[in-house]
Amino acid sequence: LKRILFVDDEVRILDGLRRMLRSKIVDWDCHYCTSANEAMALLEASCFDAVVSDLNMPGRSGLDLLRDIRSSEIHGRLPFLMLTGNGELSKRHEALQMGATDFLSKPTDFVELTARLTNVIAIRDYQEEVERANQLLEERVKERTRILEQTRHEIVLRLAMACETRDTDTGRHILRVGSFCRLLALEIGCDEEYAETLLLASTLHDVGKIGIADSVLLKPGRLTEEERLLMQAHCLIGYRILSADGPEQLAETVKVRPERNEILQMATRIARWHHERWDGDGYPDGISGADIPLEARIVAIADVYDALRSPRPYKEAFTEEKTAEIIMGASGTQFEPALIDAFVRRRVDMDELYLRLADDVEEISIAA
Ligand SMILES: [Fe+2]
Repeated sequence: LKRILFVDDEVRILDGLRRMLRSKIVDWDCHYCTSANEAMALLEASCFDAVVSDLNMPGRSGLDLLRDIRSSEIHGRLPFLMLTGNGELSKRHEALQMGATDFLSKPTDFVELTARLTNVIAIRDYQEEVERANQLLEERVKERTRILEQTRHEIVLRLAMACETRDTDTGRHILRVGSFCRLLALEIGCDEEYAETLLLASTLHDVGKIGIADSVLLKPGRLTEEERLLMQAHCLIGYRILSADGPEQLAETVKVRPERNEILQMATRIARWHHERWDGDGYPDGISGADIPLEARIVAIADVYDALRSPRPYKEAFTEEKTAEIIMGASGTQFEPALIDAFVRRRVDMDELYLRLADDVEEISIAA
């Protein structure tokens, strides 16, 4: 049942409309009032599907009522039909500019009135339906995007953990490195998005170790010179796995576009350059200073910090003090001085993160 409000100061006209619309009683619930003020009070009290108003009324006119309705948040798009005399062209234009939906000439007849009303209500219903559909669609897209994003992040983490569990028991090393990186990035003024991308991308820094033989990777004790060189290959292996010119056939088959994925792009740079040194004495390329991508310079510190603090087959775990001493001592040689300054400022938080994500802590969460 559509609720329609008729407004006219002449009771005689309202009576005429009432009689005229008797046959529409099944479809329309018609209400009648004699002033703009009364109409606004009724509109505020309940919902209507259309308003039909006389233009000329003593006191507040049909234009005043139209203005009130259009400026209201709830009724802003309520269909509004203006009843006008044939000579009132300029008033009609004014009403049009103010947002009247349509006009009806006085005296009005049944066919015209019902047809116009039916049309404006149908258009309004259709508009609302389209809006609802759009909103629903938008919500679905948002939800799908969120799930996709979450899945993407989870796959990165699980891939990193799968590789990591080859040489440590828990895979916590990469989670700690990720958290340290995020902390250091924020400390030097990187934005939240960069820090989050770095957290995920850094977990793949040693993904190339998947291509290193067990006899080298799992060897207890010191590596020979030859084994050390084999081990160093993990940077380029990781780079090949993650970069666009690596799994070419795979990229073609499943339409993977690594160059468009910021996490993978960053992970590629990190995998290749996380063992470079600030002074150029690192590997695999021997690049130095700002030529080393920022993310790789950050991972270099986070990775070494974690390795020093954790027990390894060939060494005991170092204390926080000893670890910090070694890290700070390598400022300007192995590590970027500005990043070491940032590390010193956040030493306490690094320690807290290490303890919270330590291998022997049962429940962990990497949300910082
Ligand atoms: Fe590495």
